Amino acid sequence: MSQFEYIKDIAKYGLENDQEKLLNILNELIEHSKKTRKINFALQLQSILKEAVHQQKNNSLSRVGSEMYYNRVEDKEVNELILEKLTSDYTFKNLVVNNKTKDELELFIKEHEAHDLLKKFDLPIANKVLLHGPSGCGKTLASYVLAGELRKMMVVVNLGAVVSSKLGETSKNLAKIFRKAAFEDCIIFIDEFDSLGKVRDYGQDHGEMKRVVNTILQLFDYLPQSSIVIAATNQKDMLDNALLRRFDLSIEFDLPNKEQIKELVTLTLKNGQFKFDKPRNVSSILRDAVGLSFYSIQKTLISAIKRSIFSLSEKVIPLQAVIQTNTWKDLILQEKKSLQKA
Ligand SMILES: Nc1ncnc2c1ncn2[C@@H]1O[C@H](COP(=O)(O)OP(=O)(O)O)[C@@H](O)[C@H]1O
Ligand SMILES: [Mg+2]
Repeated sequence: MSQFEYIKDIAKYGLENDQEKLLNILNELIEHSKKTRKINFALQLQSILKEAVHQQKNNSLSRVGSEMYYNRVEDKEVNELILEKLTSDYTFKNLVVNNKTKDELELFIKEHEAHDLLKKFDLPIANKVLLHGPSGCGKTLASYVLAGELRKMMVVVNLGAVVSSKLGETSKNLAKIFRKAAFEDCIIFIDEFDSLGKVRDYGQDHGEMKRVVNTILQLFDYLPQSSIVIAATNQKDMLDNALLRRFDLSIEFDLPNKEQIKELVTLTLKNGQFKFDKPRNVSSILRDAVGLSFYSIQKTLISAIKRSIFSLSEKVIPLQAVIQTNTWKDLILQEKKSLQKA
């Protein structure tokens, strides 16, 4: 066998974790090297081999085996606690927010980009962020933007699976996720955070809720500096105060004003395939839309676009769809009404 053949086999058995065959082939190579007068090489290999065998004896092979098995089982369990593990290509361009919110988000990203510099001065890096504000104003979207801008993997916690009726199980589940995220260096995103950190929920076992809050406090305290936790809530005032204080940053998301609604419309229509039939009417619709969330406004605009397309004659496929402003206005007013009732 040539040296190349030996190297190929070593790579193969090493990657396959086939200890027995790996040891055999290494012994063969040592013999071969001695015969072909590569004595130094043979001695070096022999010493590497000796060292490895010695270490394995100390670890006891059976324990190594059972630990590997344990890790695999735990990994499968953790995966069930995670809704999604993703990389994001969202950036600030996808998000419309007021200047204060934008500055805070940008500063957070800067801290992580300047990680080495801050460490040099022994300064802590903000890594626990709370995003709060009304529903449909971009909290979940902002978490994707943070993951995209930081180019980090993000795990989205599956609250339905994490929260368990079994005593102590919720805390254990949370600890598992935090351990995995720290190990794999990803962002943890916990949406609807209030369902974990609530204090005034009389419907549930108070002792268990307290235990969960205490677990989160502990997990936060021991969070490695390179890990990031993003939590989002529509009900900040329901959160336990001690928990609130542990966040390095608390960033507020608001309903859009007229300017931001305009930005959202431009963003939604960005590819220029759509235009309004009566552009002059748009300004008054923007005024009507104040009080609705970004999500609601975008939803009505997209519905209006679809309805406008369907109202066209079927034979022509237009290059540019004309949005009927009246249809959009009606949808906005309907949306407002239905939310007022709710
Ligand atoms: N600030 C925003 N800028 C741009 N789009 C937004 C914004 N807020 C909401 N949207 C749109 O509405 C959708 C739902 O918003 P989401 O981030 O889930 O809101 P929240 O988490 O605050 O309830 C987003 O995916 C996006 O299409
Ligand atoms: Mg959300």
